[in-house]
Amino acid sequence: MRVLLVCLAGLLVCLKTADSHSLPQKDYGTSGNNSSSDPDSSTGNLDSNTTTFIVRFVTRNDKKESMGIYAHKNGKVKKILEDGLAISDWPLNPRTYLGNKDGIYAYDKETEKLEKYGNLSDNVIGIVKENRTDDLYILTEDHVVYKVIEEGTKKIKVNEAEHAEQIALDWDDNLYYIGANNQPYVVTSNGVKKIEGLPANPTSALISRPPITIEHGAWFISGQQPYIIYPNATSKPYVFNDQEKLEYEKRNRAVEAIFLQVREQAGE
Ligand SMILES: *[C@@H]1O[C@H](CO)[C@@H](O)[C@H](O)[C@H]1NC(C)=O
Ligand SMILES: *[C@@H]1O[C@H](CO)[C@@H](O)[C@H](O)[C@H]1NC(C)=O
Ligand SMILES: *[C@@H]1O[C@H](CO)[C@@H](O)[C@H](O)[C@H]1NC(C)=O
Ligand SMILES: *[C@@H]1O[C@H](CO)[C@@H](O)[C@H](O)[C@H]1NC(C)=O
Ligand SMILES: *[C@@H]1O[C@H](CO)[C@@H](O)[C@H](O)[C@H]1NC(C)=O
Ligand SMILES: *[C@@H]1O[C@H](CO)[C@@H](O)[C@H](O)[C@H]1NC(C)=O
Repeated sequence: MRVLLVCLAGLLVCLKTADSHSLPQKDYGTSGNNSSSDPDSSTGNLDSNTTTFIVRFVTRNDKKESMGIYAHKNGKVKKILEDGLAISDWPLNPRTYLGNKDGIYAYDKETEKLEKYGNLSDNVIGIVKENRTDDLYILTEDHVVYKVIEEGTKKIKVNEAEHAEQIALDWDDNLYYIGANNQPYVVTSNGVKKIEGLPANPTSALISRPPITIEHGAWFISGQQPYIIYPNATSKPYVFNDQEKLEYEKRNRAVEAIFLQVREQAGE
């Protein structure tokens, strides 16, 4: 059984304030390198006041099974949900929305309290929040996308999104998703468009809201290469500058240290 740990944390310079991003999945179970476990050189890079969320899951028959969502703050790790797979972090809001087997939860990063949000009971595997409103989009286990309105009490199916694997919004609240073929699509008022200019058969694909320094478009990572994808269905590769590279590596080290802490706490 391979245990995969996926971190949802910022990627670039604006990490502290950017929305959650999935880093490329890493299998820490087979890594023989413990150089990242030095807490002084690693966790020091993360603002201790920031909350970093970690989803742990195993993959069985191509299906993700949750081993819990954890929150890391001020050097401490706490398990906050047993059966969650989805996190929607929100930079300026103390509240983070989490998707669980039995619906949506809201976690207050200041009080560290968790409560059920609304009354939906779907098995939620993806969740994002609009920039301008309190509305959410969720992705359910059967790969259907819904818009969730009225404080989590009403959902509207997004018919355009077919067999979605991941969902994301940009800062302008355009909805994107990754389909069964690892390719990203944008949902527009004129229907769904496939994003052009990307590798044809990506082996891995991740989408998220872009770092806060990127005003328009969403963030797509194929392999190790990030792209900005636009609502007009075009894309362009994103090149890290030296400062961003440095921040990115620092962040990765800090995040690895948190992974190790979570594993230790889980007793592995
Ligand atoms: C451990 O990490 C260091 C620094 O990242 C790297 O140079 C080294 O090759 C790694 N060793 C192993 C066994 O992976
Ligand atoms: C792990 O850390 C210990 C103590 O720092 C060191 O002696 C050992 O060589 C490290 N192992 C690996 C695989 O890096
Ligand atoms: C940590 O966050 C809280 C709440 O946002 C704030 O009141 C406090 O000043 C922050 N502390 C530090 C050291 O930044
Ligand atoms: C989206 O959020 C950013 C950062 O919070 C804010 O500056 C911007 O005005 C928002 N955009 C819109 C269109 O509301
Ligand atoms: C949730 O609450 C709303 C408003 O109270 C109600 O109209 C709706 O039927 C409820 N939905 C479920 C699934 O219980
Ligand atoms: C698509 O949008 C991007 C970002 O706004 C813009 O730079 C580009 O010129 C647009 N391309 C087309 C073909 O409209």
